[in-house]
Amino acid sequence: MNREQSTAIMERSAFLLPGGVNSPVRAYGAVGGSPPVIKCARGAYLTDEDDNALLDYVCSWGPAILGHAHPEVVGAVQEAAASGLSFGAPTQKEVDFAEAICARVPSIEMMRCVSSGTEATMSALRLARGYTGRDVIVKFNGAYHGHADALLVKAGSGAATFGSPDSGGVPADMVKNTMVAEYNDLEALRELFQREGSRIAAVIVEPVSGNMGCVPPVPGFLAGLISLCRDAGALSIFDEVMTGLRVASGGAQDLYDLQPDLTALGKIVGGGMPLAVYGGRREIMQKVSPLGPVYQAGTLSGNPLSVSAGLANLRLLTADCYDQLELLSARLEDGIRAVIDTGKWPCTVQRVGSMLTVFFHVGPIRNWQDASQCDTTAFGKFHGALLEQSIYWPAAQFEAAFLSVKHTTDDVDKTIVAIANAMKAASS
Ligand SMILES: Cc1ncc(COP(=O)(O)O)c(C=O)c1O
Repeated sequence: MNREQSTAIMERSAFLLPGGVNSPVRAYGAVGGSPPVIKCARGAYLTDEDDNALLDYVCSWGPAILGHAHPEVVGAVQEAAASGLSFGAPTQKEVDFAEAICARVPSIEMMRCVSSGTEATMSALRLARGYTGRDVIVKFNGAYHGHADALLVKAGSGAATFGSPDSGGVPADMVKNTMVAEYNDLEALRELFQREGSRIAAVIVEPVSGNMGCVPPVPGFLAGLISLCRDAGALSIFDEVMTGLRVASGGAQDLYDLQPDLTALGKIVGGGMPLAVYGGRREIMQKVSPLGPVYQAGTLSGNPLSVSAGLANLRLLTADCYDQLELLSARLEDGIRAVIDTGKWPCTVQRVGSMLTVFFHVGPIRNWQDASQCDTTAFGKFHGALLEQSIYWPAAQFEAAFLSVKHTTDDVDKTIVAIANAMKAASS
């Protein structure tokens, strides 16, 4: 595959952008090699600067569930742009958008638009602290909720302990109220609540973990988490930035029939434009400024282009889309499992809806302790071999691949063949 143009552009960008990128995973540090530089995209395919067509399983890290450049979404943005890019004032479209979100996700009675998933989770946590008057927050080992200081924390030495900073530039003081527990371990969470329950403002969880690869919740874990929070007067926050509108029309809470106190949405809600949401019970949301004492604001929040793209996306994402995605994703999962079984590869595939991960470790993968056993070197070779076959797979072991409604059964079948080849390359 010719990569001349991409390589030349990455050489230029290396002088200007840290790692040559505007977000770390794009630099291919976890898999080696240099990334293709993308020129344009349509449907399920990306075109790079060397005019290679790449079958896309990254989908912009989630948002492109309808495929790239859907004419109705693009048209909605063009129409909105012609009327002005940003007003910093109320618009009818943001109200239409809020109505559409609340209808899809009934636990959200009132909401705020922000511009990124990071802002959504950070604001939801501030609100939880303001509402409960408590300081401690609990997150799970291996989960990612954006790059707010208090969330860049790694687990301490024991289970369910206070963590330490997981990034330079985060003072220990900023994470001293963040506790880290093991995902899918309800017993450990129960013990934590017995010990610290009266100090806990909120537990934030990716209801299906996507940031240690795709790890589904074990039965009872999420419901147990919600009731532990309720009993202790703490809030449950579902970070559905990735799973919202992805694993089901109303997100993971729809799939598992649960009602968290607060929810963060991002990625798909903006249809590819910078837009995210936090929201939940009205009584809690009424604590947000200007109604209440919890401050949160944004110059571009509810931007008319973003909410127009989001509205068009919501309109197009019908129940049929989810049926289609389920069939297609199950076909991919089954095909990969057959490849693993036939080759007796020490791997496992895990999927929820149209998010899926091939782990280079025998499963099941239930939490970060399991995921961290993966052979990331083998994954790097697997990734490189897929790219050589024009399959654009997420460039890190601990990410989920996504499908869009524009992927076809032919695309999926072609991918299964490529994965069989890539497994061989990974073992060499
Ligand atoms: C579950 C989850 N929460 C929050 C975020 C942060 O979102 P953003 O990158 O829009 O700030 C991400 C990003 O990948 C995510 O996967």
